[in-house]
Amino acid sequence: MLERPRRNRASEAIRSMVRETRLDLANLIYPLFVVDGAGKEDSIGALPGISRFSEDKVLKEVEVCMKLGLRSFVLFPAVEEALKDKEATYSYSEENFYLRIISSIKREFPESCLVSDVAMDPYSSDGHDGLVENGKILNDETLDVLGKMAVAQAQSGIDIIGPSDMMDGRVQHIREELDDEDFQDVAIMSYCAKYASAYYGPFREALESAPKSGDKKTYQMDPANKWEALREAELDVAEGADFLMVKPALLYLDVIHLLKEKFELPIAAYNVSGEYAMLKAASANGWIDYDVAMPEMLLSIKRAGATSILTYFAKEYAQMLKEGRLA
Ligand code: PBG
Repeated sequence: MLERPRRNRASEAIRSMVRETRLDLANLIYPLFVVDGAGKEDSIGALPGISRFSEDKVLKEVEVCMKLGLRSFVLFPAVEEALKDKEATYSYSEENFYLRIISSIKREFPESCLVSDVAMDPYSSDGHDGLVENGKILNDETLDVLGKMAVAQAQSGIDIIGPSDMMDGRVQHIREELDDEDFQDVAIMSYCAKYASAYYGPFREALESAPKSGDKKTYQMDPANKWEALREAELDVAEGADFLMVKPALLYLDVIHLLKEKFELPIAAYNVSGEYAMLKAASANGWIDYDVAMPEMLLSIKRAGATSILTYFAKEYAQMLKEGRLA
């Protein structure tokens, strides 16, 4: 036997030398759910370890994360039902607590990187990402709302706009609206290949944002389709996106890899709520070795080709790294 691959696995020194992929804290984006009010830090049943924070508490949370070396965050608002309407008008209202919280975080932590969510669902009384008329999701009319939302977020100091709605043409529309308002330096991380996935369940519980009727299959992608992701990516590149996101991450590693091979833009991947919940549930039952399984999961997403990983595991990963608990 001339070839013995095991020789390159003989010691940790050798394994570490030949290791092809390394995960860095700089790759991770930590999702934060925010609510209006003060003194709130409400846990979320299906997302153990994750909370909905009011402004005062989220500032503390960001501080803790920054000390751990995490600098990037993606923010989602949990909006009271009474403030929701068909046109999602609260999304760009001056009263919107989400916009206020973005400004406060940027004021206190200018070196942080904040990613927004642009979609109507947290603000929509229909629970859809677009305007609903007679059971149909209107595309072009929705773009106007998304444009206003993006500009309002840019005004509040966001670094990266994250359209998660999957309407056609929204990247270009948002880019033009931002540029018209002199926000040419605000980037767009497009949820490019976003699938109609059951794995968003815990997230919708966190925001109480599930559709009131119907599903999201006329705008989010069919889980069976890979080549269609190329079409979405080509359009987003042409429309001015700065990042291409694949979501969910773990169930769509092939799509991450495909986009990485074909496009020059950085690839982001969203390790979604259901992927987090599965691992947490298995580890709570003692069915899996969490400390090994969790980093393995994040590494797989990076190995597939993503450099920005949106993950609820980010803070724990940073803690484990700090405490020397990572193998
Ligand atoms: C809203 C949005 C969703 C997620 C991120 N932005 C839910 C959805 O599209 O229904 C899901 C994130 C997760 O599950 O962690 N447009």
